[in-house]
Amino acid sequence: MKNLDQTFSLQDISPKGLERSRKLTQLISSEIKAASQQVISFDRFMSLALYADSLGYYVGGREIFGAKGDFVTAPESGDLFGFCVAEQCAEILGENNVVITEFGAGSGALADTIIRYFDGKILPSNFNYSIIEPSPYLSQRQKNRLKKINSELADKVNWHATFPNEGFLGVVIANEVFDAMPARRFTIRGGEIKELGVACDGESFSWEIKECSVIPDLILDRMANYPEGYTTEHVERQATWFAEFKKFFNRGILLVADYGYVDQDFFHLDRCDGTLRCYFNHQLHNNPFLAVGLQDITTSVNFSYLAECALSAGFNVDGFTSQAKFLIGNKIDAQITMLSGGDSVDAYRLAQEAKRLILPTQMGESFKFMACSYGLDKDMSGFADNERFRLG
Ligand SMILES: C[S@@+](CC[C@H](N)C(=O)[O-])C[C@H]1O[C@@H](n2cnc3c(N)ncnc32)[C@H](O)[C@@H]1O
Repeated sequence: MKNLDQTFSLQDISPKGLERSRKLTQLISSEIKAASQQVISFDRFMSLALYADSLGYYVGGREIFGAKGDFVTAPESGDLFGFCVAEQCAEILGENNVVITEFGAGSGALADTIIRYFDGKILPSNFNYSIIEPSPYLSQRQKNRLKKINSELADKVNWHATFPNEGFLGVVIANEVFDAMPARRFTIRGGEIKELGVACDGESFSWEIKECSVIPDLILDRMANYPEGYTTEHVERQATWFAEFKKFFNRGILLVADYGYVDQDFFHLDRCDGTLRCYFNHQLHNNPFLAVGLQDITTSVNFSYLAECALSAGFNVDGFTSQAKFLIGNKIDAQITMLSGGDSVDAYRLAQEAKRLILPTQMGESFKFMACSYGLDKDMSGFADNERFRLG
């Protein structure tokens, strides 16, 4: 990880962006000043930094995805990822009733690709695509993007800001959504497990112990006897998310794709500073207090904990594997042949895209797929090499 303060230049930020960041900083500072002990939890800070009305990172209107933004997700890098995910959806659903819901659709890249995959393969009356997107700015962006697709299937997309009442059927996809959920932070201080909160001095933020916190059982268990200074994160709201989601999920399969680890790697002693990361202009660092609202803040997913949340909510956990194995299982090689249509330049470009998605040194191993089901039992080619046993 780069040394943050040397690489992060405020000159890279527009005056409008700086003004927005200043307003958000004031909003958070006043909440901290009003809080007991003048410290708020880190998940509250992260929630405001990412999602505060019209000011947070995901709602503020800055370009955040792709080469001109801060980071490139798998669907942003081209069609291969989306075609493989669509291939998996087709295997699960057949081609007579394709009902897909996507959580946190970002720029709309994955929806765009999946719609083009099914275009011409199924009747519009057999297709339904819902997007659950809490950011009004991103919803509008997705609508603008999908309007440009020349396919009747694009007219079948509908949007919701939160869980819709009518209930879920079919395949639900969440790509890089769980890593964007606000996390609490814990550290060993004076031999005890303490919560790290956020304090402020004027308009600058700092880490501060949040006294009298209730420490989650998982953290009490995993960090017992860990060395002084060991720090990690925990996203409790993943449990509430699964419980809430289950209320509306009638029948189908949830596909989660994200970067993360199984429990024993997540809490590895060598990972002594946790997994908190920030992205700005493709620079990676670990200071969430810089240019608040203008940089992404994220933590890696603990897939063992996520599986536990799913099981407690009443789901089955059917599959867990690396992104590389999921994409290979869904015929990434055949997708390259089909998408290149025999053009050698396109085939070369797609081969480069595939390398980024599947090489272990790039996204292939650090990104994982997990499948959770309710009321539907399906063999899935993406999980042919199933490593569910690794979840513990
Ligand atoms: C890192 S972006 C990923 C975007 C897109 N899935 C992709 O892969 O390019 C995180 C997305 O998750 C959304 N998000 C965050 N929390 C969410 C939640 N609880 N429900 C639905 N979407 C959420 C954000 O608004 C944003 O669209």
